[in-house]
Amino acid sequence: MIHQNILGVIGNTPIVRLNALSEALQLNVLMKMESLNPGGSHKVRVASNMIADAERKGVLTRGSGQTIVEPSGGNTGVGLSMCANLYGYNVILVVPDNYSVEKQKLLRLYGAQVILSDSSTGNNSHGEKALELILENSNYVMLNQQRNLANPEVHRRITAQEILDDFPTGQVDAYVAGIGTGGHITGVSEVLTAKWPNMKTYGVEPEQCDLLNDKHCAHEIQGLSIGLVPDVLNLSCIDGMFKVSKQSCMNMALFALRNESLSLGISSAANLVAIEMLASQLPNGSTVLTMAYDGLESYLSDFE
Ligand SMILES: Cc1ncc(COP(=O)(O)O)c(C=O)c1O
Repeated sequence: MIHQNILGVIGNTPIVRLNALSEALQLNVLMKMESLNPGGSHKVRVASNMIADAERKGVLTRGSGQTIVEPSGGNTGVGLSMCANLYGYNVILVVPDNYSVEKQKLLRLYGAQVILSDSSTGNNSHGEKALELILENSNYVMLNQQRNLANPEVHRRITAQEILDDFPTGQVDAYVAGIGTGGHITGVSEVLTAKWPNMKTYGVEPEQCDLLNDKHCAHEIQGLSIGLVPDVLNLSCIDGMFKVSKQSCMNMALFALRNESLSLGISSAANLVAIEMLASQLPNGSTVLTMAYDGLESYLSDFE
């Protein structure tokens, strides 16, 4: 099949069984490889859907050279930059200054302007800085993935549907997902639980944070816990939360490389750490589904 451009390749990511982990935990551990999307993460789905939605509403016009401003730790930024280059927009990305230098560099190479926010002011420093930019420049457009309903909507309409299509029989017993904007846990969990009412959904957060009690702390697991309870997150989806340390995620990322031949970013490895914690609560042989958001390539400096 020949696609009109790279965005046509988004989605239809495969689900892969993690055999070593499944055996160790006496579970059927499955991972949807969102890292195989163009741009290397699930967030390209969100970026392209938010832009399509803004175009439908007349907020953005292709080829106009309008400037899109977005707070992004990197992956949404990559997705927006890809769309912007193909559709004729400019992009300004506000990235916390403690986030992956590799990703910042990549965003600049895509042609985006990267502005760093002072992470010592809190985990949503980039959100606050982006709002400042919008207030100063009324012609800039902020799609705001933390509040934009096109974020969970794409996961409801497409990502979740892909999962259902991969289960012509049988079902997922537990779905484990990290929470940043809450877009994918909300969209996927809502649709899967409608089909499988006894499926449980578990969120993953850094050990210092406590989302359900609105407690937010500085942490080092990029993509998770963004310093507030995001508007798009449907809290009623969540049956429980698991707290993970960065070191346990790094250990798990190495395990996945060496035993599953999977390159997993830190937040993706976090999901597997959470599954390890969940295992004792589940009957042997239960099917647990999670996602690989991105690969380890962006986090190599963490291992030096
Ligand atoms: C690496 C990584 N992990 C996890 C997440 C969380 O995804 P969501 O925003 O759908 O909650 C993100 C979001 O940007 C991410 O980039």
